[in-house]
Amino acid sequence: MIKDLWYKNAVIYCLSVGTYMDANGDGIGDFSGLMRRLDYLNGLGVSAIWLMPFQASPGRDNGYDISDYYSVNPAYGTLGDFVEFTHAAKQRGIRVLIDLVVNHTSDQHPWFKEARRDPKSKHRDWYVWSKKKPTNANKGMVFPGVQKSTWTHDPVAKEYYFHRFYDFQPDLNTSNPEVLAEILRIMGFWIQLGVSGFRMDAVPFVISTKGADVKKPREQYAMLRDLREFLQWRVGDSMILAEANVLPSTDMQYFGDDGDRMHMMFNFQVNQNLFYALASADTKPLIRAMDKTKKRPHSGQWGMFLRNHDELDLGRLSEKQRQTVFDAFGPNKEDQLYDRGIRRRLAPMLGGDRRRLELAYSLMFTLPGTPVLRYGDELGMGDDLSLPERECCRTPMQWSTEPHGGFTKSDKPIMPVIGHGPYGYEHVNAAFQRRDPNSMLNWIERIIRMRKEVPEVGWGDFEALNVGNDAVLALRYDWRNNSVLFLHNFAAEPIEVEFKTGLADQRGARLVNLLGDEHSEAKKNGKHCVCLESYGYRWYRVGGLDYLLNRSDV
Ligand code: NOJ
Ligand code: CA
Repeated sequence: MIKDLWYKNAVIYCLSVGTYMDANGDGIGDFSGLMRRLDYLNGLGVSAIWLMPFQASPGRDNGYDISDYYSVNPAYGTLGDFVEFTHAAKQRGIRVLIDLVVNHTSDQHPWFKEARRDPKSKHRDWYVWSKKKPTNANKGMVFPGVQKSTWTHDPVAKEYYFHRFYDFQPDLNTSNPEVLAEILRIMGFWIQLGVSGFRMDAVPFVISTKGADVKKPREQYAMLRDLREFLQWRVGDSMILAEANVLPSTDMQYFGDDGDRMHMMFNFQVNQNLFYALASADTKPLIRAMDKTKKRPHSGQWGMFLRNHDELDLGRLSEKQRQTVFDAFGPNKEDQLYDRGIRRRLAPMLGGDRRRLELAYSLMFTLPGTPVLRYGDELGMGDDLSLPERECCRTPMQWSTEPHGGFTKSDKPIMPVIGHGPYGYEHVNAAFQRRDPNSMLNWIERIIRMRKEVPEVGWGDFEALNVGNDAVLALRYDWRNNSVLFLHNFAAEPIEVEFKTGLADQRGARLVNLLGDEHSEAKKNGKHCVCLESYGYRWYRVGGLDYLLNRSDV
């Protein structure tokens, strides 16, 4: 068993270069700007940065439409700047993950241009074509309401091409061995430039069979092993974090029974049920989701997140549950997207209520897995609903009270900085929060520090304890002869809970509060009694602070 898989006890921070920091004053964030903010990220304590797509791209889907995989978008810098950046990150002990977007290319990619032009060209068979419009062309759209079909007629090729996403994102024919070889070449290229792995975009679609004659797409899971094998051979401590919003019954197909496929997956099941629990104060479905996703190989890990750069997808909840979340966090039509989700950032969803924000983040940091934080959420940044679709939660980072939040000196930032209302940069910015010991930023910094000292969450086994009230989630983790215990009250009212730690020996008699002074001693009957304030939470170490003396080596 490998004992030092770095991603098992890490904090990942996701950002896009174009909206983080503009150093050369053209209004677009760049690698030089990001370099200047590395000490901020280092101070925050993150272990890894996940960079959203930064390669050459027409930019019609936030960079998820790549026109050259071996390049840096000139607006962001050069390959030279990129290597300076990975080097500078490495010097600070921060790893870099990048997006691997290989389900599709941009329609401006030279491969696609050649494929359309010449049916005999090498790249024709890199895409998926049909002479006639397939009968299921208006099925399987990922962006319902915006995307009209999955097959579009190309006037140059005079055939239809398949696109799971927007029509400017033609799908690669990933079953073609030459395409797979190219994907490995792309991975090998970036690995050589210093990245520690990939957040792999749209994995179920990458491995799916594609074609006009495919009635029921089938996942070709063996491909995942090919990717992993290659990566692990080139650089041993690199990894893949898969974006796969799938049912728990197929999770192990993605991880591989022997841990030979994806290292990490985002836990969409827990994410959606977590929002339901926050909306309803009923933790039962959340506990069920955690149980259903409990199984994973020793080397496998879940990515735990609250919000990301897309809509909060609630598609796996029942209609009634989804409505409960809509009512609580996104009741207006303009808050919602694609008939399944909410497009707001977390802080406005929770009404800017600091108690609820802390509760949500405390959960993200203590649910079984590795937390993935989105830039700006450490400040409680808001959104701009006047921007279309998912763009509303992709506004520039708010650094200070300088014009445009200190993001750029230009008068024309690539995206408008939020400059009015309670979430405007005059009120919500890093410089201001840095000076305030009680700010969200300083709270996040402290919680990251503590989370890294609680490896039980990343490595251990968890058990949900019965506390006799569904509004309270009580979790205990055990690992190497140490245990930690977390309580979270999802209700607006204070709740007193009584519970046993479930540990057989004497250790459970004392719970040491890791975030405050109020510890807990078990009563004579062996039970602890804790009163949680509304939306309150507790982090306890079971036993005493001599736990490191008691930790076993295996
Ligand atoms: C998932 C990404 O998160 C999303 O932003 C993108 O539009 C699609 N994949 C297509 O690449
Ligand atoms: Ca710039």
